[in-house]
Amino acid sequence: MKVGVLTGGGDCPGLNAVIRAVVRVVHNAGGQTLGLLEGWRGAIEGNYTALHPENTDDIIARGGTILGSSRTNPYKQPDDVDKLIASFYRLGFDAIVAIGGDDTLGVANKLHSEHNLPMIGCPKTIDNDLSSTDVTFGFDTSINIVMDAVDRLRTTAESHRRVMVIETMGRHAGWIACYSGVATAADYILVPEVEVDFDRMCDILVERRKNGKQYGIVIVSEGAKLPDAADFVTQAAEIDDFGHVRLGGLGQMVADIIEKRTEIETRCVTLGHLQRGGAPSAYDRVLGTRLGLHAGRLAINKDFGKMVALLGTKIVSVPLAEAVGTLRTLDEEFLDEAAEFFK
Ligand code: F6P
Repeated sequence: MKVGVLTGGGDCPGLNAVIRAVVRVVHNAGGQTLGLLEGWRGAIEGNYTALHPENTDDIIARGGTILGSSRTNPYKQPDDVDKLIASFYRLGFDAIVAIGGDDTLGVANKLHSEHNLPMIGCPKTIDNDLSSTDVTFGFDTSINIVMDAVDRLRTTAESHRRVMVIETMGRHAGWIACYSGVATAADYILVPEVEVDFDRMCDILVERRKNGKQYGIVIVSEGAKLPDAADFVTQAAEIDDFGHVRLGGLGQMVADIIEKRTEIETRCVTLGHLQRGGAPSAYDRVLGTRLGLHAGRLAINKDFGKMVALLGTKIVSVPLAEAVGTLRTLDEEFLDEAAEFFK
C-alpha cells in the first residue's frame, strides 16, 4: 500500500509528530509513505519525498513541518484538480492523509466526494477552531508561548506603570486570547465572539489602577472587530487562494484608544508567527502522534472520507463532510468563566 501525506495551510507545532506516526503505522503494516511537498501544491505537481521510520523518527521534537506547507487551493486554477488526479494515479497512491485546517480539509472532502479519491483528514491549527474535534494540536504549544511572552511583558509593564496590549492570533475564534488571558491573569480580553466594549475595558483599567494595580494587561485576538466596523483590521489587502485577508493591527488600535481615553501610557506587542514557531509541547506531540496513528490505520483499513478527531480522551473518526465548513468558536462556558475576572 502506498500512502501520501501532506500538510497544508498555516504550519503549527505537532505536524511532524503526525507525519512520523503515519509513516510508522503504514510501515508496520508493510506499506510505504510518500510525503507530498508544500501542501496541495505537491499533490498537483507530484512533488514528493520518500518517508520511512529512519528519516522521520526524531522529527517529533521539531516545530513546523518537514514537508513544507502552502495555502494552494487546487480548485482555484481551472486545470489543477485534473493535474492532481493525474499525479495521484501516476504515483500509485492508495490513500492520502491531508493534515490541515478547514481549507485543506475542505479540499480533501471535495476530492473524496466529487472524485472518489481516497482521502483521510487530520485536523490542525493553533487557533483551535475546528469543529468535530475537542482540541487541535498546536493550540497547547501556542498558548504556552503567549503565556511566556505575557509573563515577560508583565515585568516591564509593571516597572513603567503601563498598560501592555498583546495581540494574538485567532482569526475567527478567541480560544488563544481567552486561554492565555486566563492563564496570565489579564485585566481584559477582546475576542471575535463578543462585541468589543471599549468603555467597559477602559473603566476596568482605570478602576484597577485606582485600587493599586499599577499596570494592565489586555489580550486582543487579531480577529476581534472594532465596534461598528464592517470588517477585520488587516495588514495587507491581498487575499489568499481561499479568500482570506491577512489580519493584524488591531492591537495597536486598541492601545491607542486606551492611551487616549485613560491617559495611561500604553504599548502594544503583536506576537504574530512566534505563536506558531518552535518545538511542540508534550501535549501536542502526544496528540499529534495519536491522531497520526489513527489516520494511518484508517488508510490501512480503507476507511476513507473520514477525519480523525479527539473526543474526550479517545481518538475517533468522523465523516470529513461533517467536519468541514463550520468553525468552532469559543464555548460560552469558557467566556462566562473568563468574564468573572473582567468585571
Ligand atoms: O493558522 C491560522 C493562523 O494562525 C491565523 O490565526 C492567522 O490569521 C493566520 O494563520 C496567519 O497565517 P499566515 O502564515 O498566512 O500569515
